[in-house]
Amino acid sequence: MIRLLSVVGARPNFMKIAPIVSELKKFPGIEHCLVHSGQHYDELLSGNFFADLGLPVPDVNLQTGSASHAVQTADIMKRIEPVLIDYKPQMVLVVGDVNSTIAAALTAVKLGIGVAHIEAGLRSFDMAMPEEINRKLTDAISTLLFVTEQSGIENLKREGVPEEKIFLVGNVMIDCLLRHRERAAKSPILDQLGVRKNGSGCRPYMVLTLHRPSNVDDPKTLQGILSAVSALAADFPVFFPIHPRTRKNIERFGLLRYLADAETTDGLGIRPLAPLGYIDFLALNDRARLVLTDSGGIQEETTALGVPCLTLRENTERPATVEHGSNQVVGVDSNRILAAARSILQKPVRSFQRPPLWDGKAAPKIVAILRQHLQLK
Ligand code: UD1
Repeated sequence: MIRLLSVVGARPNFMKIAPIVSELKKFPGIEHCLVHSGQHYDELLSGNFFADLGLPVPDVNLQTGSASHAVQTADIMKRIEPVLIDYKPQMVLVVGDVNSTIAAALTAVKLGIGVAHIEAGLRSFDMAMPEEINRKLTDAISTLLFVTEQSGIENLKREGVPEEKIFLVGNVMIDCLLRHRERAAKSPILDQLGVRKNGSGCRPYMVLTLHRPSNVDDPKTLQGILSAVSALAADFPVFFPIHPRTRKNIERFGLLRYLADAETTDGLGIRPLAPLGYIDFLALNDRARLVLTDSGGIQEETTALGVPCLTLRENTERPATVEHGSNQVVGVDSNRILAAARSILQKPVRSFQRPPLWDGKAAPKIVAILRQHLQLK
């Protein structure tokens, strides 16, 4: 019997681990323990995703919660160490680039347990991003590095990672999206939001998401983005599921005037929503005319869906979404956002390509490599 232990903690981790968990179940020779760090604890950011994705209740919840980076990372390390000592996994699986990822990887490796990093090698080359620090450190101590796109291979080789540790397998986030797309098409969210009537054609609309500290912790930057998007929202409804960090800051910085109130009769304006579950958010993105976001994962999801995306950052760690897909990196200057959005809205949507191997088959490849590495029959 082989023992594996996976660690998740924040919203963008859950859809990455779900296809792996379901693949692992096919092998009776593998015992798997799912650990939730508790980094995200609100139902809307965590519990709902477990339900939507059919993930089992975590075997262990470390219940760490929010804190400064140092305290959160240290808390996760302190709480996961006895779990690893007790469970004795042959390998620890971590996904993405959140604080839970580096905390679990660092604790495991110091106990002599190998780490498999899923979504390795992505680089924004911006060390002001907490995720860039987490990615680089996690990759440096991982035994197996599973990469989503060609740039990841080049980045890792440049950093001196031996080639035999690197595997280009495709994208587990896209495995999850393709698995759930049909179900999402049946979600009533578009009718509830008033952009589709009786399941028929859709009124054009846009989607906005913002949560990156560099965008939402600075009042001027946040105001610049909201003012550009509210100009676009004069012609189209813009649905804005708001992350708790962003909501607090919109209130704190006195920017509530940019949000439409619930009583608007024309449906236009930036329409604030609570964070959505996985299925409803997929349904909303799939039919959007344009998505504006500072999220990494949404750049990938819109590429897979062929929906135009404007990334409100100065860089992306996912260049395949620009080279192959529907993503444009526009930064946070209001005029640039407006010009780029208007140019997209004036043209018919062209077809985009999915990057190589974003075909829904990454999880089986990862599990096959893990089994081979651990010499399982
Ligand atoms: C984290 C990840 C980020 C990821 C994002 C997705 C790191 C460094 N950042 O950022 O990469 O893109 O998740 O959401 O790991 N909060 C709640 N409820 C919760 C969790 C958080 O209200 O369940 C609030 C708290 O006020 C907290 C703030 O959100 O202080 C930030 O949470 P935190 O987990 O530190 O980082 P995120 O901004 O969510």
